[in-house]
Amino acid sequence: MTSHDARYVIPRLHALGFGGDWNPEQWTPEVWDEDLALTQQPGVNLVTVRVLSWAFLEPTPGVHDFGWLDTVLDKCLAAGVSVDLATATASPPPWLGHQWPQTLPVTDEGVRLAYGARQQYCPSSPVFLERALLLTEAVSARYADHDAVVMWHVGNEYGAHTPTCYCDVSAEAFRAWLARRYGSLDALNEAWSTAFWSQRFSDWDEVIPPRRTPYFPNPTQQLDFTTFSSDAMLRLFTAERDVIRRHSPPDKPITTNFMRFFPHADYWQWADAEDLVSDDWYPDLDDARSHVEGAAGADLMRSLGGGQPWLLMEQAVSAINWRGVNPPKTTAEYRRWSLQQVAHGADAVLHFQWRAAIGGAEKWHSGMLPHAGPRTRSWRAVVDLGAELAALREVAGARTSASVAIVLDWPSWWALELDSRPSTGLSMVGILKEWYEPLWRRGYSIDFAHPESDLSGYALVLVPQLYAVTDAGAKSLISAAEGGTTVAVGYFSGAVDERDRVRAGGYPAPWQDLLGLWVEEYRPIVGGSTIGLRPSEGSGLGARPQGTASVWSEHVHLTGAVAVLEYAHGELAGQPAVTRHDLASGGRTWYVSADLDAASMDALILRIADDAGVEPILRSAPPEGLEVTIRETPEKRFLFLLNHGQTAVAVDPTTTGDPAEWRRIGADPSVDGTLDVPAGDVVILVANQERTSVAR
Ligand code: GAL
Repeated sequence: MTSHDARYVIPRLHALGFGGDWNPEQWTPEVWDEDLALTQQPGVNLVTVRVLSWAFLEPTPGVHDFGWLDTVLDKCLAAGVSVDLATATASPPPWLGHQWPQTLPVTDEGVRLAYGARQQYCPSSPVFLERALLLTEAVSARYADHDAVVMWHVGNEYGAHTPTCYCDVSAEAFRAWLARRYGSLDALNEAWSTAFWSQRFSDWDEVIPPRRTPYFPNPTQQLDFTTFSSDAMLRLFTAERDVIRRHSPPDKPITTNFMRFFPHADYWQWADAEDLVSDDWYPDLDDARSHVEGAAGADLMRSLGGGQPWLLMEQAVSAINWRGVNPPKTTAEYRRWSLQQVAHGADAVLHFQWRAAIGGAEKWHSGMLPHAGPRTRSWRAVVDLGAELAALREVAGARTSASVAIVLDWPSWWALELDSRPSTGLSMVGILKEWYEPLWRRGYSIDFAHPESDLSGYALVLVPQLYAVTDAGAKSLISAAEGGTTVAVGYFSGAVDERDRVRAGGYPAPWQDLLGLWVEEYRPIVGGSTIGLRPSEGSGLGARPQGTASVWSEHVHLTGAVAVLEYAHGELAGQPAVTRHDLASGGRTWYVSADLDAASMDALILRIADDAGVEPILRSAPPEGLEVTIRETPEKRFLFLLNHGQTAVAVDPTTTGDPAEWRRIGADPSVDGTLDVPAGDVVILVANQERTSVAR
């Protein structure tokens, strides 16, 4: 048995993981041997086995067939390929839906979905849970001590296709969940504001999921149902996890794969329930800013794991098959986006899937081994990336230390994007990106944080959008600011509590003292119009126009803050738009009451960061298109330079921290002054640690 080393997220794998989903059940045993022989060329060291193979492991209810899996795992062990063993419960076999139709999910319009695709189960179905646990029990008892198995993969992308179910079984589970949450029907009536529109319940049996209604369903009912649905899926995960834990040695971590900024599951809670975070990323090749989402999503994954390295569980080598038009990734994109995830904390680059399928719904999805076999461009790209990751072995376990945090809360996100709001033009992820991108471009290390977490360790906390905030979340921000953290809050934040009930008395009620202002009225902007902004007198910004708002504005009254930018026209002309407030305790806060155009947002966020004394990674600003990140172990520092642009750039790799004697990993190791990063390329530098302290 390999020794346990706490530095590595997969303790039995002392390297960066490289590999992908391997589906032997789709192929004959001769192909298994060919596959395992071929894995040696790119240095595949980790495969996820049998993610969607329930029907093969349990061909009829209660009858197991493990023979083929025994052989597959033994062959992996012999080939030196470690296994992330999946519980296979994400795609129930036809017999489950046929014999127990009540396990099939129902839409809000009452349509029961059929089997024939995948993930066709009601998250609250006791029958589904029982059958899933029987399989998990059999599999984990049989394979927990198999030396090929180094980790566990529960389910698959929970909620990707069926995040909610509105059937009667779900309705009953929802009522039980609500009874636990509220204790009494009176408390539920109060929380849901059922005095409105005569919605008052007189009996628990009247409470149902937010099924299709003639007009807006009750907002708190919708919000609670989303939280309940996330919890219901999480219960499925933890139930399988607990079965595995009864059998498995503790150094075989348990995970399930996330989907980045996925709107249907509260990943802060999910991440707490896992041993390590893993994630799937399929960039949109039609979006020229995909790499920014690539960076933000990866930072989110690292943050969800408390800074621990995470695994890129799935990506495509080339084309996918599920957007409208699915072109291939270029070799440069594949390499750069893969290394980007490592640059932001991933300790594995895995793929869906190893060998491209020849039948079924995903036969036009690329694999590491394409239909045409190894004589292909994409296979060579895989072999090259495998070699590169092997050379980066020392990066495994390295951490990133950030002084900036961006607050993200799933329930607030859900509440923001419900119907019946002042504007349906607000997108949580859109707003996050507007705040993230300027910092990313300048090359700051950035964490994401839960609003109720301890934020006081950060020099700067950004709250781009927190429409709904709990009392604890509101206090956490206040205590961080009182402790000296600079806090910047975006528009329409702190407006309601966690029940979606308005915090009245001037918005944002919990933070009026913190921000030194109150907001009289929210004033979303009608499509197509814009409001100009200009520097306020005394702001030191001169009199030049400072951009425009086109989505949102607010009527702000100052009670201690000073205006930095003000509205230039319309009814708000001369009123504050962006404000700054110095607290008696020494902290400083900012409020941004309008959406700013990209250039103005860039200038504002960089000013806030600079003012907060946060240091970017490089002393001089990176050229346009260049992304910079840093990872550290107790012995080494790694500087990643990724050129997403169309032209070569010259970079001075002098960091703002301790001086470092950089050497290049790969080709010519010497670094003398500035270095060139060709268009689309990635350069990785390494230096010995000069200091003793390491990233948290
Ligand atoms: C993921 C899923 C994989 C595969 C892949 C295709 O969502 O987990 O099983 O379907 O997408 O891109």
